[in-house]
Parts: sequence; structure tokens; C-alpha cells
Amino acid sequence: MMKTAVIYATKTKHSKKLAEAIGLFLNIKVQNITENPALHDVDLLFIVGGIYGGASMPALLTYIKTIEAPVPKYAALVTSCASGSQRQITVCNILEEKGIKVLDEFVCKGRILFVSPTHPNAKDLKEATDFAQKIVARV
Ligand SMILES: Cc1cc2nc3c(=O)[nH]c(=O)nc-3n(C[C@H](O)[C@H](O)[C@H](O)COP(=O)(O)O)c2cc1C
Repeated sequence: MMKTAVIYATKTKHSKKLAEAIGLFLNIKVQNITENPALHDVDLLFIVGGIYGGASMPALLTYIKTIEAPVPKYAALVTSCASGSQRQITVCNILEEKGIKVLDEFVCKGRILFVSPTHPNAKDLKEATDFAQKIVARV
């Protein structure tokens, strides 16, 4: 059976919310990267993270760089940002360099001060779980 893991990196807990919605849907305990999650035998890895100054959290990049063989076969990214349009490009590049195929990225809005004030909302969480469902069906 395919083993799936959901990890997240967060400053203001929006990514935690998204990760937990996906974890609940997939019946998986999600892990904060601060716990330095072990990814042994993982086939599909969901990575949930926010965007800060146009980039992913440095701690997330550091963690991803430490992923050692045997690496997950696939990854899918879930990204939270005020604009609702910025992507985790560096995360994607590091994963691909390690031979981890990035299947897709779901980007949703996340509040900062008065920008996107209601996000992530219930609709965002539903869209994130719909995304996870589609990814799981693909692999
Ligand atoms: C210091 C800081 C910088 C941010 N920079 C950006 C940015 O460059 N682009 C953007 O769309 N959102 C930006 N945001 C908004 C966050 O991406 C958004 O709040 C996201 O939901 C945070 O996810 P988190 O709660 O998991 O940390 C920034 C937020 C903070 C706190």
C-alpha cells in the first residue's frame, strides 16, 4: 500500500490548518517540520507552507535539503500566501534535484493584516482536500 505523509512549515498557523484538513481527510497524522519528520518508506509527500517575502520559510528549505535516500517518489505542494498566486519554486527545484517528482501545487490565499482577511476559510480547506484527493488518485 502507498505510504503518504503530510508535513508543514508555518509562521502564523495557516499552513497547519491546511495540513490538518488534508491529514483528517487522508487519516494521517500531520507533522511540523520543527519535529524533523522522518520520511522512511514514504511514497507520496504533501508539503504545506506559506510564502514570506516571495519565498518559502528558510527552515523548510533547510529541512528539505536534509531528505536522504530512499527519497519519496512523489511530492505535492500546498501553498498559502496573501496574493493567492505565489509558488514554492525553490522547494520544487530542491525536490526535483533529489529525484522527487513534484506532481502539482495548490495555491490558496492566506491572510496578512488586511490582505485576504478571511483566508484560509472553509472553502480553501475544502479545495485543499479536493486537491489531495486528486493527487492520491493519480499515483
Ligand atoms: C513576514 C511575512 C512576509 C510575507 N510575504 C508574503 C509575500 O511575499 N507574498 C504573499 O503573497 N504573501 C506574503 N505573506 C503572507 C503569508 O504568505 C500568508 O499569511 C500565509 O498564509 C502564511 O502562512 P503560515 O500562516 O502558514 O505561515 C507574508 C507574511 C508574513 C508574515
